[in-house]
Amino acid sequence: MATIKNKRIESILSEALGILKPSDEEIMTTTTFSNQIMERLRIEAPKDVDIIMAGSVSRGTQIRGSSDIDIFMLFPKTSNSKSMEDKGMRIAKRIVDKKRGEYYKIKYAEHPYLQLISKNPPIKADIVPAFKIKDSYERGSSVDRTQLHNVFVMENFTKKQCDDVRLLKGFLKFHSIYGAEAKIEGFSGYLSELLIYNYGSFMNTLSSISKLKLPISIDPKSRSILSAEKNIYFKSDFVILDPTDENRNVAAAVSKEALSKFILISRRFLKNPSIDFFYGNEYSDNNSKSRLNALRTKYGFDMYNITFEVFNISEEILWQQSKKMTKQLEDILQKNSFNPIISLIDIKGGSGIISIFLNKYELNSVVRQGPDVFIENASDSFMEKNQLVFIKGYKIMSLKHTEFNTPMNLMRGILKSNALTIPSYIKQKSIHISLNKISESNAKLIYRRYIELTKI
Ligand code: CTP
Repeated sequence: MATIKNKRIESILSEALGILKPSDEEIMTTTTFSNQIMERLRIEAPKDVDIIMAGSVSRGTQIRGSSDIDIFMLFPKTSNSKSMEDKGMRIAKRIVDKKRGEYYKIKYAEHPYLQLISKNPPIKADIVPAFKIKDSYERGSSVDRTQLHNVFVMENFTKKQCDDVRLLKGFLKFHSIYGAEAKIEGFSGYLSELLIYNYGSFMNTLSSISKLKLPISIDPKSRSILSAEKNIYFKSDFVILDPTDENRNVAAAVSKEALSKFILISRRFLKNPSIDFFYGNEYSDNNSKSRLNALRTKYGFDMYNITFEVFNISEEILWQQSKKMTKQLEDILQKNSFNPIISLIDIKGGSGIISIFLNKYELNSVVRQGPDVFIENASDSFMEKNQLVFIKGYKIMSLKHTEFNTPMNLMRGILKSNALTIPSYIKQKSIHISLNKISESNAKLIYRRYIELTKI
Protein backbone atom coordinates (compact mmCIF):
# COMPACT_ATOMS: atom_id res chain seq x y z
CA MET A 1 0.00 0.00 0.00
CA ALA A 2 2.68 2.43 1.12
CA THR A 3 4.80 1.66 -1.91
CA ILE A 4 1.90 2.32 -4.30
CA LYS A 5 1.40 5.71 -2.65
CA ASN A 6 5.15 6.39 -2.76
CA LYS A 7 5.27 5.53 -6.46
CA ARG A 8 2.37 7.89 -7.07
CA ILE A 9 4.11 10.67 -5.15
CA GLU A 10 7.31 10.02 -7.09
CA SER A 11 5.50 10.36 -10.38
CA ILE A 12 3.67 13.54 -9.25
CA LEU A 13 6.92 15.13 -8.12
CA SER A 14 8.68 14.23 -11.31
CA GLU A 15 5.80 15.72 -13.34
CA ALA A 16 5.92 18.86 -11.17
CA LEU A 17 9.67 19.13 -11.62
CA GLY A 18 9.20 18.88 -15.37
CA ILE A 19 7.07 22.01 -15.14
CA LEU A 20 9.19 23.85 -12.60
CA LYS A 21 12.72 23.22 -13.85
CA PRO A 22 13.89 25.78 -16.39
CA SER A 23 14.37 24.36 -19.88
CA ASP A 24 17.94 23.88 -21.21
CA GLU A 25 17.23 26.79 -23.52
CA GLU A 26 16.24 29.06 -20.63
CA ILE A 27 19.36 28.08 -18.71
CA MET A 28 21.56 28.65 -21.76
CA THR A 29 20.04 32.09 -22.47
CA THR A 30 20.40 33.17 -18.86
CA THR A 31 23.96 31.90 -18.57
CA THR A 32 25.06 33.58 -21.80
CA PHE A 33 23.42 36.84 -20.80
CA SER A 34 24.83 36.87 -17.27
CA ASN A 35 28.32 36.05 -18.58
CA GLN A 36 28.04 39.03 -20.91
CA ILE A 37 26.94 41.36 -18.13
CA MET A 38 29.69 40.12 -15.82
CA GLU A 39 32.28 40.56 -18.58
CA ARG A 40 31.11 44.14 -19.17
CA LEU A 41 31.37 44.83 -15.45
CA ARG A 42 34.85 43.28 -15.20
CA ILE A 43 36.07 45.59 -17.95
CA GLU A 44 34.71 48.68 -16.19
CA ALA A 45 35.45 47.82 -12.55
CA PRO A 46 38.82 48.19 -10.78
CA LYS A 47 40.85 44.97 -10.52
CA ASP A 48 40.20 44.52 -6.79
CA VAL A 49 36.43 44.34 -7.29
CA ASP A 50 35.10 40.79 -7.68
CA ILE A 51 32.15 40.30 -9.99
CA ILE A 52 30.06 37.28 -9.04
CA MET A 53 26.69 35.78 -9.80
CA ALA A 54 24.49 35.16 -6.77
CA GLY A 55 20.90 34.20 -5.98
CA SER A 56 18.95 31.19 -7.17
CA VAL A 57 20.17 31.23 -10.80
CA SER A 58 23.78 30.79 -9.70
CA ARG A 59 22.80 28.10 -7.19
CA GLY A 60 20.63 26.10 -9.58
CA THR A 61 17.51 26.52 -7.43
CA GLN A 62 15.55 28.88 -9.69
CA ILE A 63 12.19 27.93 -11.16
CA ARG A 64 11.13 28.17 -14.77
CA GLY A 65 10.33 31.61 -16.04
CA SER A 66 11.81 33.40 -13.04
CA SER A 67 15.40 33.40 -14.14
CA ASP A 68 16.11 37.02 -13.28
CA ILE A 69 19.73 37.28 -12.32
CA ASP A 70 21.58 38.77 -9.37
CA ILE A 71 25.08 40.02 -10.00
CA PHE A 72 27.17 41.31 -7.14
CA MET A 73 30.10 43.70 -7.39
CA LEU A 74 32.18 42.92 -4.34
CA PHE A 75 34.38 45.80 -3.20
CA PRO A 76 37.26 45.38 -0.71
CA LYS A 77 36.12 46.12 2.84
CA THR A 78 38.51 49.09 3.12
CA SER A 79 36.39 51.61 1.24
CA ASN A 80 33.58 53.37 3.07
CA SER A 81 30.05 52.36 2.37
CA LYS A 82 28.90 55.54 0.63
CA SER A 83 31.84 55.68 -1.76
CA MET A 84 31.44 51.95 -2.48
CA GLU A 85 27.78 52.50 -3.42
CA ASP A 86 28.58 55.53 -5.57
CA LYS A 87 31.39 53.76 -7.41
CA GLY A 88 29.30 50.64 -7.88
CA MET A 89 26.31 52.52 -9.25
CA ARG A 90 28.50 54.58 -11.61
CA ILE A 91 30.07 51.43 -13.03
CA ALA A 92 26.72 49.64 -13.30
CA LYS A 93 25.17 52.56 -15.19
CA ARG A 94 28.05 52.57 -17.67
CA ILE A 95 27.44 48.99 -18.77
CA VAL A 96 23.77 49.46 -19.73
CA ASP A 97 23.75 49.11 -23.52
CA LYS A 98 21.04 51.43 -24.84
CA LYS A 99 21.77 50.41 -28.42
CA ARG A 100 20.50 46.94 -27.57
CA GLY A 101 17.35 48.41 -26.09
CA GLU A 102 18.54 47.96 -22.49
CA TYR A 103 17.52 50.41 -19.79
CA TYR A 104 17.74 50.56 -16.02
CA LYS A 105 15.86 51.39 -12.86
CA ILE A 106 17.40 52.35 -9.54
CA LYS A 107 16.05 50.12 -6.80
CA TYR A 108 16.57 50.10 -3.06
CA ALA A 109 17.33 47.36 -0.58
CA GLU A 110 19.29 48.68 2.41
CA HIS A 111 21.20 50.67 -0.18
CA PRO A 112 20.66 51.37 -3.86
CA TYR A 113 21.26 48.88 -6.64
CA LEU A 114 20.68 48.94 -10.36
CA GLN A 115 18.20 46.81 -12.21
CA LEU A 116 19.16 46.37 -15.83
CA ILE A 117 16.21 45.48 -18.03
CA SER A 118 16.90 43.72 -21.29
CA LYS A 119 14.19 43.12 -23.89
CA ASN A 120 16.07 40.62 -25.93
CA PRO A 121 16.58 38.26 -24.20
CA PRO A 122 13.80 39.33 -21.80
CA ILE A 123 15.79 39.24 -18.55
CA LYS A 124 16.20 41.54 -15.59
CA ALA A 125 19.61 41.68 -13.95
CA ASP A 126 19.98 43.15 -10.47
CA ILE A 127 23.46 44.59 -10.17
CA VAL A 128 24.26 45.03 -6.51
CA PRO A 129 27.34 46.76 -5.07
CA ALA A 130 28.40 45.15 -1.78
CA PHE A 131 31.45 44.50 0.39
CA LYS A 132 33.57 41.39 -0.07
CA ILE A 133 33.35 39.47 3.21
CA LYS A 134 34.26 36.05 4.55
CA ASP A 135 32.10 36.10 7.66
CA SER A 136 28.86 37.82 8.66
CA TYR A 137 30.53 39.85 11.47
CA GLU A 138 32.38 41.79 8.74
CA ARG A 139 29.20 42.77 6.99
CA GLY A 140 28.12 46.32 6.37
CA SER A 141 24.56 46.01 5.12
CA SER A 142 22.38 42.91 4.89
CA VAL A 143 22.98 42.48 1.15
CA ASP A 144 26.58 41.55 2.03
CA ARG A 145 25.22 38.26 3.38
CA THR A 146 24.08 37.02 -0.03
CA GLN A 147 27.62 35.96 -1.06
CA LEU A 148 27.79 33.84 2.10
CA HIS A 149 24.41 32.25 1.32
CA ASN A 150 25.78 31.34 -2.09
CA VAL A 151 28.79 29.59 -0.60
CA PHE A 152 26.58 27.73 1.89
CA VAL A 153 24.16 26.44 -0.73
CA MET A 154 26.79 25.66 -3.32
CA GLU A 155 28.97 23.75 -0.86
CA ASN A 156 26.21 21.80 0.87
CA PHE A 157 23.39 20.98 -1.52
CA THR A 158 23.11 17.90 -3.71
CA LYS A 159 21.55 18.19 -7.20
CA LYS A 160 18.48 16.37 -5.88
CA GLN A 161 18.13 18.91 -3.08
CA CYS A 162 18.34 21.79 -5.59
CA ASP A 163 15.44 20.16 -7.44
CA ASP A 164 13.60 19.73 -4.15
CA VAL A 165 14.02 23.47 -3.53
CA ARG A 166 12.35 24.03 -6.90
CA LEU A 167 9.47 21.76 -5.88
CA LEU A 168 9.06 23.62 -2.63
CA LYS A 169 9.19 27.03 -4.31
CA GLY A 170 6.59 25.87 -6.86
CA PHE A 171 4.35 24.44 -4.14
CA LEU A 172 4.52 27.67 -2.11
CA LYS A 173 4.17 29.92 -5.14
CA PHE A 174 1.09 28.12 -6.39
CA HIS A 175 -0.52 28.84 -3.04
CA SER A 176 0.59 32.50 -3.02
CA ILE A 177 2.95 32.19 -0.06
CA TYR A 178 6.28 32.34 -1.87
CA GLY A 179 8.25 35.53 -1.28
CA ALA A 180 9.24 37.61 1.75
CA GLU A 181 7.97 40.89 0.32
CA ALA A 182 5.31 42.88 2.20
CA LYS A 183 2.60 41.88 -0.28
CA ILE A 184 3.11 38.17 0.44
CA GLU A 185 4.83 37.93 3.86
CA GLY A 186 5.71 34.35 2.98
CA PHE A 187 8.75 32.15 2.46
CA SER A 188 11.75 33.62 0.63
CA GLY A 189 13.90 31.66 -1.80
CA TYR A 190 16.70 31.36 0.77
CA LEU A 191 14.24 30.19 3.44
CA SER A 192 12.98 27.51 1.04
CA GLU A 193 16.59 26.42 0.55
CA LEU A 194 17.17 26.25 4.30
CA LEU A 195 14.02 24.19 4.89
CA ILE A 196 15.15 21.64 2.30
CA TYR A 197 18.63 21.52 3.81
CA ASN A 198 17.31 21.13 7.33
CA TYR A 199 14.75 18.42 6.58
CA GLY A 200 16.76 16.82 3.78
CA SER A 201 14.09 16.65 1.09
CA PHE A 202 10.81 18.09 -0.17
CA MET A 203 8.73 15.25 1.26
CA ASN A 204 10.42 15.38 4.66
CA THR A 205 9.88 19.14 4.75
CA LEU A 206 6.17 18.66 4.14
CA SER A 207 5.79 15.92 6.74
CA SER A 208 7.63 17.93 9.39
CA ILE A 209 5.74 21.12 8.59
CA SER A 210 2.44 19.22 8.67
CA LYS A 211 3.15 18.36 12.32
CA LEU A 212 4.72 21.67 13.29
CA LYS A 213 4.11 23.03 16.78
CA LEU A 214 5.10 26.49 17.97
CA PRO A 215 7.28 27.92 19.37
CA ILE A 216 10.16 26.43 17.47
CA SER A 217 13.74 27.54 16.69
CA ILE A 218 15.63 25.59 14.09
CA ASP A 219 19.33 25.70 13.35
CA PRO A 220 19.64 24.28 9.83
CA LYS A 221 23.46 24.21 10.02
CA SER A 222 23.42 21.55 12.75
CA ARG A 223 19.93 20.34 11.80
CA SER A 224 18.84 20.76 15.39
CA ILE A 225 16.10 22.39 17.40
CA LEU A 226 17.32 25.14 19.71
CA SER A 227 16.06 26.22 23.10
CA ALA A 228 13.16 28.65 23.46
CA GLU A 229 15.67 31.37 24.36
CA LYS A 230 16.14 31.96 20.65
CA ASN A 231 12.40 32.63 20.28
CA ILE A 232 12.65 35.19 23.02
CA TYR A 233 15.77 36.74 21.48
CA PHE A 234 14.12 37.09 18.05
CA LYS A 235 10.67 37.87 19.53
CA SER A 236 9.16 35.24 17.26
CA ASP A 237 7.54 31.82 17.61
CA PHE A 238 9.00 30.62 14.34
CA VAL A 239 12.75 30.99 14.01
CA ILE A 240 15.01 29.56 11.30
CA LEU A 241 18.59 30.64 11.92
CA ASP A 242 20.76 31.80 9.08
CA PRO A 243 23.69 29.33 8.96
CA THR A 244 25.90 32.22 7.86
CA ASP A 245 24.73 34.61 10.58
CA GLU A 246 23.34 33.42 13.90
CA ASN A 247 21.91 36.85 14.54
CA ARG A 248 19.40 36.59 11.74
CA ASN A 249 16.04 34.86 11.71
CA VAL A 250 15.49 34.03 8.04
CA ALA A 251 11.80 33.38 8.77
CA ALA A 252 11.22 36.84 10.26
CA ALA A 253 8.96 37.94 7.41
CA VAL A 254 6.68 34.87 7.53
CA SER A 255 3.18 35.87 8.66
CA LYS A 256 1.02 33.65 10.85
CA GLU A 257 -1.34 33.25 7.90
CA ALA A 258 1.42 32.10 5.51
CA LEU A 259 2.75 29.58 8.02
CA SER A 260 -0.76 28.29 8.74
CA LYS A 261 -1.43 27.87 5.05
CA PHE A 262 1.84 25.97 4.59
CA ILE A 263 0.83 23.59 7.39
CA LEU A 264 -2.64 23.00 5.94
CA ILE A 265 -1.53 22.46 2.34
CA SER A 266 1.28 20.14 3.49
CA ARG A 267 -1.26 17.99 5.35
CA ARG A 268 -3.61 17.97 2.40
CA PHE A 269 -0.87 17.00 -0.03
CA LEU A 270 0.34 14.17 2.21
CA LYS A 271 -3.19 12.80 2.58
CA ASN A 272 -4.11 13.14 -1.04
CA PRO A 273 -1.08 13.83 -3.24
CA SER A 274 -1.84 15.35 -6.62
CA ILE A 275 -0.27 17.51 -9.30
CA ASP A 276 -3.06 20.03 -8.57
CA PHE A 277 -0.85 21.34 -5.74
CA PHE A 278 1.63 22.66 -8.30
CA TYR A 279 -0.34 23.86 -11.28
CA GLY A 280 -3.73 23.89 -12.96
CA ASN A 281 -6.96 24.98 -11.28
CA GLU A 282 -6.96 28.02 -13.50
CA TYR A 283 -9.77 30.35 -12.67
CA SER A 284 -11.32 32.88 -14.96
CA ASP A 285 -11.28 36.52 -13.96
CA ASN A 286 -13.72 37.50 -16.69
CA ASN A 287 -16.71 39.28 -15.19
CA SER A 288 -15.01 39.57 -11.82
CA LYS A 289 -17.54 42.18 -10.78
CA SER A 290 -20.44 39.78 -11.18
CA ARG A 291 -18.45 37.01 -9.51
CA LEU A 292 -17.90 39.25 -6.48
CA ASN A 293 -21.55 40.31 -6.51
CA ALA A 294 -22.65 36.68 -6.63
CA LEU A 295 -20.46 35.95 -3.64
CA ARG A 296 -21.90 38.91 -1.77
CA THR A 297 -25.44 37.84 -2.45
CA LYS A 298 -24.76 34.22 -1.52
CA TYR A 299 -23.32 35.10 1.90
CA GLY A 300 -25.22 38.34 2.41
CA PHE A 301 -22.26 40.59 3.21
CA ASP A 302 -21.42 44.11 2.09
CA MET A 303 -18.23 45.11 0.36
CA TYR A 304 -16.67 48.45 1.29
CA ASN A 305 -14.22 49.51 -1.39
CA ILE A 306 -11.65 52.11 -0.43
CA THR A 307 -9.73 53.36 -3.44
CA PHE A 308 -6.76 55.74 -3.36
CA GLU A 309 -3.82 57.01 -5.35
CA VAL A 310 -0.23 56.51 -4.28
CA PHE A 311 3.01 58.37 -4.78
CA ASN A 312 5.68 56.93 -7.06
CA ILE A 313 7.76 55.05 -4.49
CA SER A 314 8.96 51.47 -4.04
CA GLU A 315 6.23 48.81 -4.10
CA GLU A 316 7.55 47.42 -0.84
CA ILE A 317 6.86 50.66 1.03
CA LEU A 318 3.46 51.07 -0.62
CA TRP A 319 2.44 47.58 0.45
CA GLN A 320 3.66 48.14 3.99
CA GLN A 321 1.70 51.38 4.20
CA SER A 322 -1.47 49.99 2.64
CA LYS A 323 -1.40 47.06 5.05
CA LYS A 324 -0.90 49.44 7.94
CA MET A 325 -3.88 51.54 6.89
CA THR A 326 -6.03 48.42 6.47
CA LYS A 327 -5.09 47.22 9.95
CA GLN A 328 -5.99 50.61 11.36
CA LEU A 329 -9.36 50.57 9.60
CA GLU A 330 -10.07 47.05 10.85
CA ASP A 331 -9.22 48.07 14.42
CA ILE A 332 -11.47 51.14 14.30
CA LEU A 333 -14.32 49.11 12.80
CA GLN A 334 -13.88 46.47 15.49
CA LYS A 335 -13.88 49.04 18.26
CA ASN A 336 -17.16 50.36 16.94
CA SER A 337 -18.87 46.96 16.92
CA PHE A 338 -18.39 46.14 13.23
CA ASN A 339 -16.46 42.92 12.68
CA PRO A 340 -14.55 42.81 9.42
CA ILE A 341 -14.80 39.37 7.82
CA ILE A 342 -12.07 39.60 5.18
CA SER A 343 -9.90 42.48 3.95
CA LEU A 344 -8.22 42.33 0.56
CA ILE A 345 -5.68 44.78 -0.83
CA ASP A 346 -4.07 45.40 -4.18
CA ILE A 347 -1.92 48.13 -5.66
CA LYS A 348 -1.42 48.67 -9.34
CA GLY A 349 -0.30 51.46 -11.63
CA GLY A 350 -0.28 54.30 -9.13
CA SER A 351 -3.49 53.40 -7.33
CA GLY A 352 -4.61 51.07 -4.61
CA ILE A 353 -7.77 49.41 -3.40
CA ILE A 354 -8.77 47.93 -0.07
CA SER A 355 -11.97 45.86 0.01
CA ILE A 356 -13.42 45.07 3.37
CA PHE A 357 -16.17 42.47 3.61
CA LEU A 358 -18.57 43.19 6.46
CA ASN A 359 -21.96 41.91 7.50
CA LYS A 360 -24.86 44.29 6.97
CA TYR A 361 -25.15 46.55 10.00
CA GLU A 362 -27.45 49.18 11.28
CA LEU A 363 -26.74 49.83 14.94
CA ASN A 364 -28.44 52.03 17.48
CA SER A 365 -25.94 51.66 20.24
CA VAL A 366 -22.54 50.10 20.85
CA VAL A 367 -20.94 48.44 23.85
CA ARG A 368 -17.70 50.07 24.95
CA GLN A 369 -15.16 48.29 27.08
CA GLY A 370 -13.78 50.35 29.92
CA PRO A 371 -10.93 49.75 32.35
CA ASP A 372 -10.45 47.07 35.03
CA VAL A 373 -12.15 47.87 38.33
CA PHE A 374 -8.71 47.68 39.96
CA ILE A 375 -7.51 50.81 38.19
CA GLU A 376 -9.12 53.38 40.42
CA ASN A 377 -8.68 56.67 38.53
CA ALA A 378 -9.53 55.21 35.14
CA SER A 379 -12.66 53.47 36.41
CA ASP A 380 -13.84 56.59 38.26
CA SER A 381 -13.53 58.70 35.16
CA PHE A 382 -15.14 56.01 32.94
CA MET A 383 -18.13 55.88 35.31
CA GLU A 384 -18.44 59.67 35.29
CA LYS A 385 -18.32 59.94 31.53
CA ASN A 386 -20.76 57.13 30.77
CA GLN A 387 -24.39 56.64 31.71
CA LEU A 388 -25.47 53.05 31.24
CA VAL A 389 -22.57 51.18 32.83
CA PHE A 390 -22.31 47.54 33.83
CA ILE A 391 -19.64 45.01 34.77
CA LYS A 392 -18.32 42.07 32.76
CA GLY A 393 -15.67 40.06 34.57
CA TYR A 394 -13.33 42.66 36.08
CA LYS A 395 -14.10 45.22 33.40
CA ILE A 396 -16.52 48.12 33.40
CA MET A 397 -18.58 48.36 30.24
CA SER A 398 -21.01 50.91 28.91
CA LEU A 399 -23.78 51.03 26.36
CA LYS A 400 -23.85 54.16 24.23
CA HIS A 401 -25.89 55.54 21.38
CA THR A 402 -23.73 55.79 18.34
CA GLU A 403 -23.77 58.33 15.55
CA PHE A 404 -21.71 55.86 13.52
CA ASN A 405 -24.59 53.48 12.99
CA THR A 406 -23.20 51.96 9.78
CA PRO A 407 -19.64 51.11 8.73
CA MET A 408 -19.96 53.72 5.96
CA ASN A 409 -20.85 56.49 8.42
CA LEU A 410 -17.98 55.44 10.61
CA MET A 411 -15.41 55.33 7.82
CA ARG A 412 -16.54 58.63 6.32
CA GLY A 413 -16.52 60.11 9.82
CA ILE A 414 -12.99 59.05 10.63
CA LEU A 415 -11.72 60.30 7.28
CA LYS A 416 -13.27 63.71 7.85
CA SER A 417 -12.08 64.01 11.42
CA ASN A 418 -8.55 62.82 10.63
CA ALA A 419 -8.94 59.99 13.16
CA LEU A 420 -7.31 57.74 10.59
CA THR A 421 -3.57 58.31 10.20
CA ILE A 422 -3.03 58.29 6.46
CA PRO A 423 0.40 56.85 5.65
CA SER A 424 2.75 59.27 3.93
CA TYR A 425 2.70 57.75 0.43
CA ILE A 426 -1.07 57.48 0.13
CA LYS A 427 -2.62 60.61 -1.35
CA GLN A 428 -5.09 61.68 1.32
CA LYS A 429 -7.36 63.71 -0.96
CA SER A 430 -7.73 60.82 -3.38
CA ILE A 431 -9.29 58.43 -0.85
CA HIS A 432 -12.78 57.39 -1.83
CA ILE A 433 -15.10 54.88 -0.14
CA SER A 434 -17.97 53.16 -1.86
CA LEU A 435 -20.42 50.50 -0.84
CA ASN A 436 -20.72 47.47 -3.12
CA LYS A 437 -19.61 49.51 -6.12
CA ILE A 438 -16.43 48.57 -7.91
CA SER A 439 -14.97 49.04 -11.39
CA GLU A 440 -14.35 45.92 -13.44
CA SER A 441 -10.58 46.53 -13.36
CA ASN A 442 -10.55 46.80 -9.55
CA ALA A 443 -12.90 43.83 -9.30
CA LYS A 444 -10.34 41.77 -11.24
CA LEU A 445 -7.63 42.67 -8.73
CA ILE A 446 -9.81 41.98 -5.71
CA TYR A 447 -11.23 38.78 -7.10
CA ARG A 448 -7.69 37.49 -7.71
CA ARG A 449 -6.70 38.36 -4.15
CA TYR A 450 -9.83 36.58 -2.92
CA ILE A 451 -8.94 33.44 -4.89
CA GLU A 452 -5.36 33.59 -3.55
CA LEU A 453 -6.60 33.93 0.01
CA THR A 454 -9.07 31.09 -0.17
CA LYS A 455 -7.02 28.56 -2.17
CA ILE A 456 -5.97 26.33 0.71
N1 CTP B 1 17.96 37.37 0.29
C1 CTP B 1 17.75 37.10 1.63
N2 CTP B 1 16.54 37.38 2.21
C2 CTP B 1 15.53 37.92 1.50
C3 CTP B 1 15.71 38.21 0.14
C4 CTP B 1 16.95 37.92 -0.44
O1 CTP B 1 18.65 36.62 2.30
N3 CTP B 1 14.37 38.20 2.10
C5 CTP B 1 19.27 37.04 -0.31
C6 CTP B 1 19.40 35.55 -0.53
O2 CTP B 1 20.75 35.18 -0.47
C7 CTP B 1 18.85 35.39 -1.93
C8 CTP B 1 19.44 36.60 -2.61
O3 CTP B 1 19.39 37.62 -1.61
O4 CTP B 1 19.22 34.19 -2.51
C9 CTP B 1 18.71 37.02 -3.86
O5 CTP B 1 17.36 37.26 -3.56
P1 CTP B 1 16.17 37.08 -4.61
O6 CTP B 1 16.65 37.38 -5.99
O7 CTP B 1 15.02 37.83 -4.06
O8 CTP B 1 15.75 35.53 -4.48
P2 CTP B 1 16.41 34.18 -4.96
O9 CTP B 1 17.02 33.48 -3.77
O10 CTP B 1 17.35 34.43 -6.11
O11 CTP B 1 15.14 33.31 -5.36
P3 CTP B 1 14.21 33.36 -6.67
O12 CTP B 1 14.75 34.41 -7.60
O13 CTP B 1 14.30 31.97 -7.21
O14 CTP B 1 12.85 33.67 -6.15
